[in-house]
Amino acid sequence: MKLLQTTFSLPSGSLLQNRIAKSAMSENIGTLKNAPTKQLIKAYKVWAKGNPGLLITGNVMVDSQALGEARNVVVEDRSNFKLLQAWAKTVEGTGTQIWPQLNHPGRQAFAAINKEVVAPSAVSLKMGGASSMFKKPTPLTEDAIWKIIKRFGNAAKIMQDAGFSGCQIHGAHGYLVSQFLSPLSNTRNDQWGGSLENRARFVLEVYKEIRTQVGAAYPIGIKINSADFQRGGFSEEESMEVVRLLSKEGIDLIEISGGTYEKPAMVGHKQKKSTQEREAYFLDYIEKVRSITDKPLMLTGGFRTVAVMEQALADGKLDIVGLARPFCLSPELAQDIFSGKTTAFETPFPSSGFRFIDKMGGVELPWYALQIGRLGKGKRPKKNLSGLTAFYLSTKNMIVKSFFKN
Ligand SMILES: Cc1cc2nc3c(=O)[nH]c(=O)nc-3n(C[C@H](O)[C@H](O)[C@H](O)COP(=O)(O)O)c2cc1C
Repeated sequence: MKLLQTTFSLPSGSLLQNRIAKSAMSENIGTLKNAPTKQLIKAYKVWAKGNPGLLITGNVMVDSQALGEARNVVVEDRSNFKLLQAWAKTVEGTGTQIWPQLNHPGRQAFAAINKEVVAPSAVSLKMGGASSMFKKPTPLTEDAIWKIIKRFGNAAKIMQDAGFSGCQIHGAHGYLVSQFLSPLSNTRNDQWGGSLENRARFVLEVYKEIRTQVGAAYPIGIKINSADFQRGGFSEEESMEVVRLLSKEGIDLIEISGGTYEKPAMVGHKQKKSTQEREAYFLDYIEKVRSITDKPLMLTGGFRTVAVMEQALADGKLDIVGLARPFCLSPELAQDIFSGKTTAFETPFPSSGFRFIDKMGGVELPWYALQIGRLGKGKRPKKNLSGLTAFYLSTKNMIVKSFFKN
């Protein structure tokens, strides 16, 4: 029996049936009104049948006025409660847990689909030619900050009532929580900015609000950056301090990732060649984190062989292996690993055939999201799907949504 197949008990007492988790991937197949669809629910049924320990959903937005993508699911009230229940029910009878990932995009919100864009400070994204797709954000007022904190708690409670067995705060990849943490995007000089203690206040208040709403026995996780990989940005030392603070508060699962829209280290770009070849981009960092927390650790990014995953568990570096892109191409991945059918998997970097489009970063994620869409339509993944089609469809979604802004 592989270590990957062993069960794992979270601090709250809840049990994961094995050590494989599907990390969050924005599916972008909600309705244009940002409700879950049958297609989305079907994709999760397919994944649940493969028996991973945990399915973390793609980011669910807590405010309909703040979207990362055109077809994100938004949870801000109970208007889609039955669909949320159906989504949670996809794991019924499988032993797999399903948690929503809760997010607010802050300044990483496309101008075309958002009327107003808010962030800790009025600092624009610096993404070369792609910067024009984003607005300069309006700094959040004290009152607006507390309202967003409440929104995280409200969404978590609704999802708990709908049947989800835990939740994850998206504290990584340059979205709002991560914007508060970084001194580059947070230049405030009130209680939310300046010292790390102040910059970490937002994530701690989000955690506390969710805990108040869901109770002590409900698992709450966080996905956090090891670093932003930007000079003067959120550093490894600061990340470790935030891990220490969240651990003290009682967080149940810490998923390590890294990067932002400006520096997309989470999918391996901008990483050293040696890091990419070695797999598991943030392995060195998680070893350091292990020495400062006794909370469960999950690592996501770059795992591609069972041998490396097993070794990381055997070395005690982490407790849960997170996989994202491999789940798009092999939806029954956990089962295939356990049966010995799969020992290694490849995830291509799809191209549109046009360098300037590829460079803008508009192909890879939509290509993988399209594979999720196929699962939801009862189709199998298709490795030779066109990168240009993926780019075209995600752009079309954005254009259509721009006419129906919330
Ligand atoms: C299509 C797609 C959508 C993603 N959406 C999210 C998301 O909503 N939230 C998140 O935390 N990470 C998201 N990610 C990043 C993944 O969770 C993961 O960190 C990254 O793909 C590296 O893991 P991998 O090498 O196993 O793919 C996304 C990745 C892909 C490919």
